[in-house]
Amino acid sequence: MPAKDWTYVMDEAALPEGKMTPVYPSGVNVLMARVGGAVYALEGKCAHMGCPLFNGMLEGVILTCPCHDWRFNIRTGEFIDAPELRLKMYQTRTEDGKLFVSLGQMEGL
Ligand code: FES
Repeated sequence: MPAKDWTYVMDEAALPEGKMTPVYPSGVNVLMARVGGAVYALEGKCAHMGCPLFNGMLEGVILTCPCHDWRFNIRTGEFIDAPELRLKMYQTRTEDGKLFVSLGQMEGL
């Protein structure tokens, strides 16, 4: 298995509980979110028509797209109404108060 390529994206303190923020490691649109103390990194563009998801609404683990209200589970990336559609998920890592993502898609997704 190749070593993961971790990219620094932001300081951990800049992502409070229940909040989302976009980051662009290597030009890739990634949405960072923290819920229940866990940090998630998802594809930042909606699987429907590509709207930026950071403008959406986060309620618990459900993210609602601002454009046409598609809803996604941020723990899995699944579209609620049709789980076979999903956003890419990226692995995250915290070290010394800094958040990193691996742009390789998570295994099993
Ligand atoms: S672009 Fe997100 S629901 Fe249409």
